[in-house]
This record gives sequence, structure tokens and C-alpha cells, in this order.
Amino acid sequence: MLTTAQEQIISATAPVVADHLEDITSRFYPIMFDRYPEVRPLFNATHQREGTQPRALAGAVLAYVQMRQQPEQTKHALRVAIDKHVSLGITPEQYPIVGECLMMAIGEVLGDAVTEDVADAWAGLYGELADLLIEVEAERADEFAARSGGWRGTREFRIAETADESANIRSFVCEPADGLAVAAHEPGQYIGIKVDVDGETVFRHYSLSDVPNGRTLRLSIKHEEGGRMSEHFHTALGVGSTVEFLPAAGDLTLVEGDDPLLLISGGVGQTPLLPIARHGLSQGRNVVYVHSAHDADHHAFVDEVAELAQTYPDQLRVVTVHTANGQGSVDAQLLGELLTENMQCYYVGPQGFMTVVDAALVELGVPDDRRHFEQFGPSRPLTPA
Ligand SMILES: Cc1cc2nc3c(=O)[nH]c(=O)nc-3n(C[C@H](O)[C@H](O)[C@H](O)COP(=O)(O)OP(=O)(O)OC[C@H]3O[C@@H](n4cnc5c(N)ncnc54)[C@H](O)[C@@H]3O)c2cc1C
Ligand code: HEM
Repeated sequence: MLTTAQEQIISATAPVVADHLEDITSRFYPIMFDRYPEVRPLFNATHQREGTQPRALAGAVLAYVQMRQQPEQTKHALRVAIDKHVSLGITPEQYPIVGECLMMAIGEVLGDAVTEDVADAWAGLYGELADLLIEVEAERADEFAARSGGWRGTREFRIAETADESANIRSFVCEPADGLAVAAHEPGQYIGIKVDVDGETVFRHYSLSDVPNGRTLRLSIKHEEGGRMSEHFHTALGVGSTVEFLPAAGDLTLVEGDDPLLLISGGVGQTPLLPIARHGLSQGRNVVYVHSAHDADHHAFVDEVAELAQTYPDQLRVVTVHTANGQGSVDAQLLGELLTENMQCYYVGPQGFMTVVDAALVELGVPDDRRHFEQFGPSRPLTPA
């Protein structure tokens, strides 16, 4: 609990912290990676280089100043972070590490302004938020472990099958090395993965590209040239290779009810939407499945979607756009033609693609609670550059 005096200190100093947030975040990670090299592999080096993730963490602590009195609002605002933490197996013991290094960064950047009282107040605020996250994340980890076929921390899986879905997307069907059952995830969720890449431990997130079957999990990975994990999957891993999976998480899941679905994907963004489509169709819902690919060679899951269309001819409408050579694009005009009343809209793809789709749906009057999307990296606003 913060004292009233500490609350006043936080209110008085929050604007100064906000003004120096960039400097604080750019000091925080080097301090932490230097003092605690063991946590470094958890953080995606590309997100660090781009600065997207560092801003998210420190920004969240600052935003918490306004949300302290409403724990439910805090949990909602931090739901993406909570999911990422759960799927990477972040532990309570790691919270003091982040707290200590954040305080050191604040001290370095703000210098003499950080008196002992100021430092204590901010450490207290961090501790309060950390306790809330630790509690929610423990509940989530317990819930996943308690499911039939669930587990805690990492579990070894073996690649049982691979399939080329397009020129640069390959699926990997993985089965648990212990031969036991696999917990059901919600269609649309992703999983944390830990792999030894040439002697270096690397963590990443991948959507589960199929609905749960109790035995295997499927990832579908786009080959990023020079990408640490995806290149390793495409060039070094195959049937028989082992990888470690962490719990499934993510809140891009089907909203209950019988509302029709408008699923809009660009490129590898199909991975969470394909299981959502399958799940929705199996519930008898109508689905419009819009997919934008560069060209026919880069168009993944063609056969799988065609099979779905055959199984559900009255429920599924498939719309494909190939964008190469300006042949087409997903825009407000196309979406306006496809949108019907009460649709739940889901969209996943490159940042620019989602920005266009989001703006188009807003223009077409689709409210917030019917627009659902996920970013394949740290959260960033969907505003035109
Ligand atoms: C919730 C979620 C779900 C996801 N689902 C999927 C999915 O289903 N399928 C999928 O394919 N991906 C998915 N991703 C993305 C995935 O997690 C990885 O980010 C992606 O595979 C790239 O990782 P990588 O290690 O291959 O590339 P990274 O090593 O992270 O590199 C990314 C890019 O940066 C470039 N780069 C790397 N280092 C440097 C450098 N020093 N200088 C300049 N450029 C550099 C690389 O060449 C590459 O193009 C998902 C992400 C999230 C958060
Ligand atoms: C109060 C403390 C914390 C806050 C407020 C916080 C907040 C956040 C936020 C906002 C994100 C980004 C979510 C997104 O993708 O949009 C994030 C991601 C992440 N957090 Fe935390 N976090 C905290 C503690 C920790 C701790 C203790 C660890 C472990 C050392 C940790 C590890 C990570 C990792 C590894 C990611 C994903 C990084 C990536 O994608 O590169 N966080 N966190």
C-alpha cells in the first residue's frame, strides 16, 4: 500500500518521469541485461533494436499511475502483456529484477531529483503493479497446468510432420515427447516457444494454426530472411527435431454467440484466423474469409480453405486478393461490400495492412467491441505513419 504522502510524490513526479520516458527506457534494458544476463534471451532482440517493446513496459508502469484505483481496468489494459508473460513463463522471482533495474534507470536519468522518498514511492508503485500481475499470471499458469494435457513451464515437443503451405510459409505439426495428451487451446491463441539456435536460447511466439485435437499442435512459420528463429525452423529443423513449448495464451478468440464473422488476413496473419474460421463454422456461424497474399506462390492454405468451403458451402464465403503488380487490395470499398449487420471482425497481418483495415472498418461504422486484431510483435497504435 502506498501512503498518502507517497501518492502525492508520485502525482508530483509523474510528469517528469513521462518527459524522460525515452531516456529511462533506453537505459533500463542495458542495465538489466548487464546485471542479469539470464533474462536477456526472453526479450526479442529485434523488438529491442526497434524500441517498440522497451517503450511498452515503462509506458505501462506510467499508465498505471492513472489506473491504480481500478484493478480490473489495469488487468484489461495490460491483457496483452499478461498473455505474453504467461506464454513465456515469466516468474514472480523475475519481477524484483525488473523493479531494481527500472529504479536504477530512473535514478541515473533524473539524478538528484530522485531523493530517497521519491525512490521509495516509485518502488512502492512498481511493487503494487508487480503484485497484481504476479497474481493474475499465477492464476492463468495454474489454470493451464490443471487442464487435461496441460503443463507448467516448458514441455518438450517433437516435430512429427512438416508441410510447405506457400513459397515462404511452412507448417510444423508437433507432438509431445512424453506421448501424453495436449491441453486444448482456444482457437486463435498462440504459444511461447524456446529453442536452442546455434547455442543461443531464443524465445518467440507463434499462433497455433489449427484447432485443438488433444494430440498435436501446429505452427505455421513464415521464413524471414535473416530471422533468428524462423530461418532456423526453415533451414535446420525438420521431422524428429525437438523444441520446447510454453503455455498457450492470447485473447484473439471467438466471441461467443451466433454473430457472423468477417475474418481478414494478410500474409502469415492467416495463422490465428484459420482456426477461428474452422471453430466458427463448426458452430454453424456464417464466415466471410478474406485473405490477401502477394501472389499465388505466396498464398498459403489454399487447399485447406477450399476444403472448408466444400464442407460448409452455405456458411463460408472466400474472398482472395493478390496484391502483386497492383492487382488488388483490401480497402474500405471491398470491406463495405462484404460487411453485413452484426459482424464480428477479426484482422491480422502486417502493421500497414492492419492500419488500413482498422481505418476502413471504423469508417464503415464497426464499433470497438466488434473489431478484434492481434499484432505479431509488441503492441503499437494502428495509426497511419
Ligand atoms: C502473438 C504472436 C503470434 C505470432 N504468430 C506467428 C505465426 O503464426 N507465424 C509466423 O511466422 N510468425 C508469427 N509471429 C512472429 C514471430 O514471433 C517472429 O517475430 C517471427 O517469426 C520473426 O522472428 P525471427 O526470429 O525469425 O526474426 P528476428 O530475428 O526477430 O528478425 C526479424 C526481422 O528483422 C531482421 N533483423 C534481425 N536482426 C537484424 C539486425 N541486427 N539488423 C537489421 N535487421 C535485422 C531479420 O532479417 C528479420 O527480417 C507471431 C508473433 C506474435 C507476437
Ligand atoms: C510491473 C512489471 C511489468 C510490466 C508493467 C510489464 C509490461 C509489459 C508490456 C506492456 C509488454 C508488451 C506487451 C505487448 O506486446 O504489447 C511486456 C512484454 C514482455 N515482458 Fe513485461 N512487464 C513487467 C514485468 C516483466 C518481467 C518481470 C519480465 C521478465 C523478466 C518481463 C518480460 C517481458 C517479455 C519477455 C515481454 C515480451 C518481449 C518481446 O516481445 O520482445 N516483464 N511487458
